[in-house]
Amino acid sequence: MSSDRILNPQFRSKIMSADEAAALVPAGANVGVSGFTGAGYPKAVPVALAKRILDARLAGRKSKVSLWTGASTAPDLDSALAIVDGVEKRLPYQSDPVLRNKINEGSVEYTDIHLSHVAQLAAFGFLGKLDVAIIEVVGVTADGKLIPSSSVGNNPTWLDIADKVILEVNAWQNAALEGMHDIYSVALPPARQPIPLVKVTDRIGGPYLTVDPQKVVAVVETSRPDRNSPFSPPDENSRKIAGHILDFLAHEVRQGRLPKDLLPLQSGVGNIANAVLSGLNEGPFENLVSYTEVLQDGMLDMIKSGKLLCASATAFSLSPVALEELNKDLARYSRNIILRPQEISNNPEVIRRLGVIAMNGMIEADIYGNVNSTHIMGSRMMNGLGGSGDFARNAYLSIFMSPAQAKGGAISSIVPMVSHVDHTEHDVQVLVTEQGLADLRGLSPKQRAKVVIENCAHPDFRPALRDYCKRAYEKSGKHTPHLLEECFSWHLKFLEQGKM
Ligand code: COA
Repeated sequence: MSSDRILNPQFRSKIMSADEAAALVPAGANVGVSGFTGAGYPKAVPVALAKRILDARLAGRKSKVSLWTGASTAPDLDSALAIVDGVEKRLPYQSDPVLRNKINEGSVEYTDIHLSHVAQLAAFGFLGKLDVAIIEVVGVTADGKLIPSSSVGNNPTWLDIADKVILEVNAWQNAALEGMHDIYSVALPPARQPIPLVKVTDRIGGPYLTVDPQKVVAVVETSRPDRNSPFSPPDENSRKIAGHILDFLAHEVRQGRLPKDLLPLQSGVGNIANAVLSGLNEGPFENLVSYTEVLQDGMLDMIKSGKLLCASATAFSLSPVALEELNKDLARYSRNIILRPQEISNNPEVIRRLGVIAMNGMIEADIYGNVNSTHIMGSRMMNGLGGSGDFARNAYLSIFMSPAQAKGGAISSIVPMVSHVDHTEHDVQVLVTEQGLADLRGLSPKQRAKVVIENCAHPDFRPALRDYCKRAYEKSGKHTPHLLEECFSWHLKFLEQGKM
């Protein structure tokens, strides 16, 4: 097992089984776990905890925990606990189908939070008291420092504020991860200082996590792989979206509004974001850097091809094939990859300073540029906001993208009014669909509506959107014309008739 990864005798003396460690998690506890996408999450204790919760239920006792993470995790954490109805509350981001159903049927409370805000909210106690932290690490050094795993997320905060800490030391994780991280703590107001990160390649902290050894109640040895889903190969729409973005970036370079090697890139979750990265890998831009949240397959390909010099992120979010490839040669990439706490990877101050180009997926946008990233038909949660708001509000360029239609053409992604707002018109600069790109910078609401409809809406829905604008202009206030009695009629029609 991984005992040879636990060099400190004090930590070695706490080695126990996952079942024994799970027994140390009290019913009703707030539990902070490592994990950001399917990377670096604890893989044994949560499953053991789910079994305990199930046993308790079978014995007639209700037992749940509240689960705080970095972001999404994997089925052996989120699904495992959700299947046994073991989750009281979940934050700050998820993408698990079982958990999503529980949230949408109302049996799990879910708090969807800007990822950069979580550490501060937790440290000030707004989320309640953190009873237990369960953190995956690669190893423990002889002097008791923790070698972080394939994600950092909120681990420094969880280790700091939890009453009790359970460590999972995962021998499957590549030992060459040691040295890849840059752990920097942000002081709380009023003692906060500027974050001294001025280039993507800057290292401002140290490679290890620290914990008070007195708080460590269990060390569990594991040897289990990270689990992320494979990306779908880019389809025609994704390739078109990528093409529009590449043309736009080239235009901005020609106009002198972007340097030849662009600005640091952020790329969101999902297949379209990954397709844009593939497009960039085949495109004309060289010597790129990225300041982002997750490192996906597309970025790894760009590092391999030499297009991307450095990627700063908080987690790997790689398909099984890409992960295997990375792990074969991880040491080679240590110059190109820096993993940071999510409070830093998503930090508004740093994102604004670096002038990041943010590219994120969306569910729908409205004619005025408000964006819904999270809710289906206004009330069903998809995944969550994640870091999209951290980046969108503070980026130099904030781009949102989606196919113009969903569900085989039954839904228009461009609607009169979004059914839920995550990013207001003030934070959204560019919208892209396979139909084209709308550059909204500096435009008034009526000007925005025109370019959004003409450039981004699907031709099948354009006439109805034009008609809506015309009638709204005739009937309502002339600044942001709307027909309040009609603005959600598209969503209602879909719910009633299955087509907008
Ligand atoms: N109405 C209803 N459903 C819609 C829809 C709409 N307007 N637009 C998309 N969908 C559905 C799709 O049909 C698909 O459903 P399925 O899973 O049943 O097939 C699902 O939403 C995902 O859509 P897809 O087109 O595959 O997009 P994606 O994989 O690029 O993901 C988001 C898009 C918005 C869900 C994703 O980007 C996300 O969760 N964003 C929020 C978090 C974020 O931006 N994080 C990055 C910050 S660093």
